[in-house]
Formats: sequence, C-alpha cells, structure tokens
Amino acid sequence: MYQILVADAINAEGLQPLLEYKDAVIIEKKVTDPEVELEKIDALLVRSATKVTEELFEKMPQLKIVARAGVGVDNIDVNAATKRGVIVVNAPDGNTISTAEHTFAMMAALMRNIPQAHQSVKNLEWKRNEFVGNELYGKTLGILGMGRIGTELAKRSKAFGMNVQVFDPFLTNERASKLGVQNSSLDEVLEHADIITVHTPLTAETKGLINEKALSKTKKGVYFLNCARGGIIDEDALATFIGNGHVAGAALDVFEVEPPGEYPLFKFDNVIVTPHLGASTREAQLNVATQVAKEVRMFFEDKPVSNS
Ligand code: MLT
Repeated sequence: MYQILVADAINAEGLQPLLEYKDAVIIEKKVTDPEVELEKIDALLVRSATKVTEELFEKMPQLKIVARAGVGVDNIDVNAATKRGVIVVNAPDGNTISTAEHTFAMMAALMRNIPQAHQSVKNLEWKRNEFVGNELYGKTLGILGMGRIGTELAKRSKAFGMNVQVFDPFLTNERASKLGVQNSSLDEVLEHADIITVHTPLTAETKGLINEKALSKTKKGVYFLNCARGGIIDEDALATFIGNGHVAGAALDVFEVEPPGEYPLFKFDNVIVTPHLGASTREAQLNVATQVAKEVRMFFEDKPVSNS
C-alpha cells in the first residue's frame, strides 16, 4: 500500500482519483503532526504552506513524488528532490483563469478605491469626493511575464480598452501582434506604463526585479500589482516610493513572508491587500487538485507523468 500524505488544504473532490485507488492510503495531516510517520510516506501533496526542504526530505526516505497543487514550486527544494530521485509535479494551468481574474479585480479595486470606500461607508461615512478614482480605459498596462496568467490578463485588459505593453524575453513579435500587445524591453515598460503587474515565477533572476533602480525609471503616479510571488517587487523599495508619493498605489496578493505579520506597507491607505487569494476559487482548487491527484496515481501505476 502506498502512503500518500496530503499536507495542505487540497480540494477533497479533486483527490477522488487517489481516494479511488485501491493500492493507496490517504493521510490528511500536516508534516509536523506527530502522528504522521514521515519515514513511511511514498507521496506528498502540498499547496504553498508546507515548505518541502532538504531537512524534510531527509525525514522521508521512502518519498518518491511531491505534487504541488498549483503552479509555483518555490516552496519545494527541487534540487534536493532531484538529488534523491524524487519527482516533483505541479498543476501548471488549473488556476490560470482564477489568478488572471483576481489580478484584474485587484487592478479595478485599486483604481476605484473600492476597499477604502467600502470600509468608509461601513464606518458610517459618506465621502464621495475622497474616493475619486481613475478609469482603466486608455491606460497603459505593463505586464512583466507573458506566460499563461499574463496572457489571460492581457486579453481581459484589452477588452476594457487598455493598451498593453509587455516585457517577456520569450515573447516573439509574431505572438505579441496576434495578442494585440506591444512587445517591449523592461525599461520601455517601466518608462511608459500607468499600471505595472508582475507575472513571473520567483527565481534568482526575478527576485527584486522591481527594485529602487527599476522604480526610479517609472512615471510618477504609476500603480503596481503583485499577484505572482512576494519578492519580485522589493517590498522596502516599494514602501520608499509609495512613501515619497512617486508610486500612487499598489495591490498585493502575495508577500515575501506569508502571512506577513507587522508589515511596513500596511500603513499606506493606497496599498490594498488580499491573503494570497489568486488561485482561491472553487474552480481552480478543483482543477489543480484533480490534476495532481491524476499525476500521482499515474506515477504509481507506472504511467508517464506529464508535469514534472
Ligand atoms: C500557485 O503557485 O499556484 C499559486 O500561488 C496558488 C497557491 O499557492 O495556492
């Protein structure tokens, strides 16, 4: 019997392919739970909460596969997995639409001061002049990273009459013109965009992609969005540029440390936040859970896995 540990909150319906698998037993507990016999676990299913580190791998000598119910594998030490011959699989497209929609919702909320106005009305105030916003129509949205989510966001933004300027080293001019976006350098996006959003994975190259130097190239009054990974925008640098009035506001769904605790950016009214909700829809959670459950089952049935 294979022992499969589901260590984070993963959609139960999506786990059906594993629940129906007669050669496996499913354990839904945290890796820190003293009842879990880590040394006997064959497969580990996680979202982003569990950090799959070298130290954890050491405690799991039987482990054969780690499945990430989501896109980013930055909470998994992939090198340590490779060293031990442990396969890492993810669900690369199950939450694309949800994350693109959340980014769009955050952009609209930011431009129209919706969270601030909502709180104000609930505080029994009626400050219509204080919450004058900006239209999206005619604004230039700069997208850094034109993968699945960036592409879906571009389509939605174009439908709202925005100009979309993109920086992505892998984007060809042909594809850019097919999508109706402008293929640009990073500096061109920084210099021209009214709103800038990041949609890259967090890697050594993208960590601090938006730092003081990059921020100083942007237009005064620019807005920033991060619904990708904390750390792509340097949080201290962003706080400096919001504090000095150069950046007009930011919408953040992700943080360098999650949960962020006491956080310098919280003091600004023009910074709106959500607790890493990009992929938190019923649809996306079902999609990603089903995707990884199928992959793990295929792996144990000796069939080829596709997203490793
Ligand atoms: C992902 O990488 O898929 C998202 O950030 C969603 C999540 O962590 O659940």
